Amino acid sequence: MYLCDTFKDFNMPRIAVFASGNGSNAQRIIEYFAGHSAISIDMVLTNNPGAPVLKRAENLGVSTMVFNRTTFYETGIIPEMLVANHIDYVVLAGFLWLIPGNLLQAYPARIINIHPALLPKYGGKGMYGLKVHEAVIASGDRESGITIHFVDEKYDEGKIIFQAKCPVNEADTPEILAERVHALEHRWFPEVIGEIVMRDT
Ligand code: GAR
Repeated sequence: MYLCDTFKDFNMPRIAVFASGNGSNAQRIIEYFAGHSAISIDMVLTNNPGAPVLKRAENLGVSTMVFNRTTFYETGIIPEMLVANHIDYVVLAGFLWLIPGNLLQAYPARIINIHPALLPKYGGKGMYGLKVHEAVIASGDRESGITIHFVDEKYDEGKIIFQAKCPVNEADTPEILAERVHALEHRWFPEVIGEIVMRDT
């Protein structure tokens, strides 16, 4: 369980990152804002006790928390804990569960997700990881990319903030396309998060 760090600067916007798996985006975000004068990445939360993101966060000195389905969907513990720890924004970096109403209400227009395709195409329940890239290749689309958007009560449907595109080549496998899209995510996600937070501050 995360414990409040009384030495933190509470005037600085503070971000919690949610991730369910590998955590390469979470790591990029933590590294990008390490030592940042105005924004702090304060904790990483996951629904998956075996997620590599936990080790990545711990290696970078960021607090972690694991929660289960009952805590997330049937109690107010997560939003209460985030608010008590002065968290201002929630960033979803490969987090695969739908966000419950109590968390949306605690953070209106302050939950930001990244999706590995050009929404509104190739989004929705079950569309994550290689499944997205398989669908893009099967469709014959010649471009894909990333979408950064605010989160609402549906999968991948909140207001779009930013998109960046990349080509889909004839010889692409889902794995090759995933690598190209991941590179775009790593390039843009931290920067766009910074712009959103600074614009609101
Ligand atoms: C990222 O590609 C992200 O866009 C995707 O999960 C991956 C996590 O990678 N999210 C979704 O598909 C959400 N629908 P990472 O764990 O290496 O950061």
